[in-house]
Amino acid sequence: MKTHKIGIILNGVTGRMGTNQHLLRSIDAIIRQGGVRVSPTEVILPEAVMVGRNEGKLKSLSERSVVKDWTTDLDSVLGDKAFPIYFDAQSTLRRFEAVKKAAGAGKHVYCEKPTAVTTEDALALYRICRDAGVKNGVVQDKLWLPGLVKFQRLKESGFFGDILSVRGEFGYWVFEGRSIPAQRPSWNYRKEDGGGMVVDMLCHWRYVIDNLFGDVKRVSCLAATHIPERVDEQGQPYPCTADDSAYATFELENGIIAHFNSSWCVRVRRDDLLTMQVDGTQGSAVVGLRDVWIQHYGNTPKPVWNPDAPNPINFFDGWAKVPDQEPYDNAFKIQWELFLRHVVLNEPFRWTLLEGAKGVQLAERGLQSSLERRWLDLPTLEA
Ligand SMILES: NC(=O)c1ccc[n+]([C@@H]2O[C@H](COP(=O)([O-])OP(=O)(O)OC[C@H]3O[C@@H](n4cnc5c(N)ncnc54)[C@H](O)[C@@H]3O)[C@@H](O)[C@H]2O)c1
Repeated sequence: MKTHKIGIILNGVTGRMGTNQHLLRSIDAIIRQGGVRVSPTEVILPEAVMVGRNEGKLKSLSERSVVKDWTTDLDSVLGDKAFPIYFDAQSTLRRFEAVKKAAGAGKHVYCEKPTAVTTEDALALYRICRDAGVKNGVVQDKLWLPGLVKFQRLKESGFFGDILSVRGEFGYWVFEGRSIPAQRPSWNYRKEDGGGMVVDMLCHWRYVIDNLFGDVKRVSCLAATHIPERVDEQGQPYPCTADDSAYATFELENGIIAHFNSSWCVRVRRDDLLTMQVDGTQGSAVVGLRDVWIQHYGNTPKPVWNPDAPNPINFFDGWAKVPDQEPYDNAFKIQWELFLRHVVLNEPFRWTLLEGAKGVQLAERGLQSSLERRWLDLPTLEA
């Protein structure tokens, strides 16, 4: 067996996403499975080093993981040729400088979204990497969720006919931190720390919509801060300077209308934390993170509006759950494997920092639309 060893700097893995999705469920899992098998005789095997500020956290992570190396000195590993890949899952505001530095040191770059908080910076990161001749990618994990994969299969088979519209509902109640501790970090609710629902979620909606339904051409967004004060990790009250909810409508090049409600102030009475109802001329689907429910034209009930009598139709009965028709791996891990193949074998990888910049652009235009209370076009980003 030929083994392609590849060194990876993992920065920000002491955080929520870094620890769970990138370290434990991706890199650790890939190493434990013996690497990424790329042919009957070849395998790519990551060799990672974790970078952070807190020695205690890094030590305890190295005890939970097969990744044993760690350092608090980013520069030392950036200067080390044994690690050609730099990965960043730090909190958003730290990304721009770190990625710039890594690309300057000749590292291939893979990082979390949003890649920056302004389109200008996000585009600059892409150009810096391109000009430095390093490969680059942004996490677009939702594309590999089982529910979204099942949707793509339905679409490929022509199930929907012409798709007319998409209704996305995302969110859940994030506790304010007074009696029950919050389940998200406090920086998410502070604009000055890179927080906010629009910045967080519109970059996801950009790649989800562009890849699944069609290119977004125009946005109308209303951002709101429903809860003005929360309590932080130290038990201190703080003012919420960022939006905690976004009500956004997207017009697509192909005429499809998508509307996504995103909120951390909503209680869930739906099938999943994210659902997208896709209605087409021939059939509809409700796409969750893992499961998808479908209703075909021939199975569509014919309701008659009469609120004076109980409705005789149980609308839930007309939907069938799509079975698991193939294996589904962790979405972050699948994308990591594709990025490693891109770096080592030069295989194509279309989820670049330019795609990341498109996500930042939608968030930025969404915020501007909210401030100005009007529709805004999305100009094509020139690479
Ligand atoms: N792909 C997704 O679905 C998804 C989901 C949530 C968050 N994210 C993104 O991942 C990133 C991290 O989010 P999180 O929820 O894990 O946040 P987090 O607060 O749990 O983790 C942040 C990380 O950044 C590090 N960090 C923060 N300030 C630092 C500083 N001053 N110096 C050095 N390191 C510092 C922390 O130590 C930690 O490792 C964010 O950019 C966020 O937008 C992506």
